[in-house]
Amino acid sequence: MARIVGGFSSSHTPLMSLPGELWGEYARNDANIRDLVQPPDCKRVTYQQLLASADPAIAKAINVETFRRRGEAIQKGLNELQHRFEETTPDVVVMFGDDQEEVFFYDNYPTINVYWGETYRMLPRPLRPDMTEAAKISALAYGTEERDYPVDAALGIYLIGSLIDQDFDVAHSRYQKGEYGGTVGPANWYLDHQRNTAPRPFGLAHAFAFPICRWFGGRSIPMVPISINTCYPPNWISPRRAYALGRAVRKALEAWSSDKRVAIVTSGGLSHFVVDEDLDRAALKALAEADGEALSSLPRTRLQSATTEILNWVAAAGAMGDTRMEVLTYEAGYRTVAGTGCGCAVGHWH
Ligand SMILES: [Fe+2]
Repeated sequence: MARIVGGFSSSHTPLMSLPGELWGEYARNDANIRDLVQPPDCKRVTYQQLLASADPAIAKAINVETFRRRGEAIQKGLNELQHRFEETTPDVVVMFGDDQEEVFFYDNYPTINVYWGETYRMLPRPLRPDMTEAAKISALAYGTEERDYPVDAALGIYLIGSLIDQDFDVAHSRYQKGEYGGTVGPANWYLDHQRNTAPRPFGLAHAFAFPICRWFGGRSIPMVPISINTCYPPNWISPRRAYALGRAVRKALEAWSSDKRVAIVTSGGLSHFVVDEDLDRAALKALAEADGEALSSLPRTRLQSATTEILNWVAAAGAMGDTRMEVLTYEAGYRTVAGTGCGCAVGHWH
């Protein structure tokens, strides 16, 4: 029987890649982010509205010394995660991740999708001459070269069958297309506008690419990517369903007639593009206590915009069963006085 030998997770925001000196430069675009929501009701707001009502205490964290200290703590956590991942030597990784206008659009957006081609092409993000240094470093974090990453196709098709047997109506994909593009929104909740992506070649989505590029230590361990629609209403996954999906994946792996050692991997979150420390800490507490009921009950209202990537962690927690997650790093990554930024975390189940 297969054995789950560990779970590994990190945020993948640019703050996980940038030195503190560049946080301020990266933050210059924050006033243009359209997906800002303000806790606790998490209605969409403009940057100016957010700024007008921001907690004045946030301003104390907006300086290069704090950015540098936080950046160093984040890299320390990621280095430790890489070290532990390398020590665990899994044979295969099952990855949970979301898709942010990468390969899925409103022509047909699956809530849960399992990919089971033989490989998944990774493409570096295009660099433009007008990009800032911070934007370039952020883009390179998702890959620097084109390559075909191995997929455990046999495990992929097995997981699809098991999930269907466990009453999860999963979508699947077997191959990639030459180009991906389309629109998302408008829908309900925070997503009150339409966003367009012109068709372009696109490789492995960022939530999967970041762990591979940052903390897989250069190894190409076969994977199965499970995409979850965390970000986009109306068919975004609920916290309870994300946790249940993880449990079902665990059940499938425990029944898999293979002696492979499996690691669970995820990335994303925590709160962004407005930092919601209360939500981050509640999620981390529940992860650290393996409290499935608390994770399943995270409030939908607070989970808007890309903060929903916390649900990648919830799915991973489900797959890790009663194992508690060790929080290696948490930094409330404020980068403007308005409170924009990202909750930056690194976690390990062992
Ligand atoms: Fe993301």
